Amino acid sequence: MQAPLSPAAADTVAAAVLARHDGRQDQLLPALHALQDAIGFIAPARVPAIARHFNLSRAEVHGVLTFYHHFRAEAPARCRVTLCRAEACRSMGADRLLAHAQRTLGCDLHGRSADGSVSLDPVYCLGQCANAPAMTLDDAVFARVTPARFDALLAHALEADRPAPTHPGGPSFLPEAV
Ligand code: FES
Repeated sequence: MQAPLSPAAADTVAAAVLARHDGRQDQLLPALHALQDAIGFIAPARVPAIARHFNLSRAEVHGVLTFYHHFRAEAPARCRVTLCRAEACRSMGADRLLAHAQRTLGCDLHGRSADGSVSLDPVYCLGQCANAPAMTLDDAVFARVTPARFDALLAHALEADRPAPTHPGGPSFLPEAV
């Protein structure tokens, strides 16, 4: 994961991102995605400037940011885990996987591990229903995840301080190594 920007650098980047998106309201979502990609999260303090730029109320921008689970209001953890909580995954062991993750990390969904290094969030379908249960670790999708694979993935990501291994062009099924 990239190093966090200083507040001043984040302000500069945010202004540049907004400048690249004209004030049309259909540009709001692309701008929010670009902001989060560039800065890592969209702090509540940025909402007034975003609202002004798109001629919207603060409540409208806040509503969009909170409607989509993708958007974060605070700096992301070093490792970001999401577990699929939709039907196909739940029928294939996602509840057991969630219980294991909660025990391992010592936190509930929407929480963080005690040292703050790992966040745990729900997601609703990752397009891997035929290979459930699925999860993401940072920006990589993993399918057929067992508790043991969960542990291996997480250990790899934390040890290496880099994203877990993935296979180009599709989700990792983690055959042998990790
Ligand atoms: S239900 Fe989990 S990937 Fe579709």
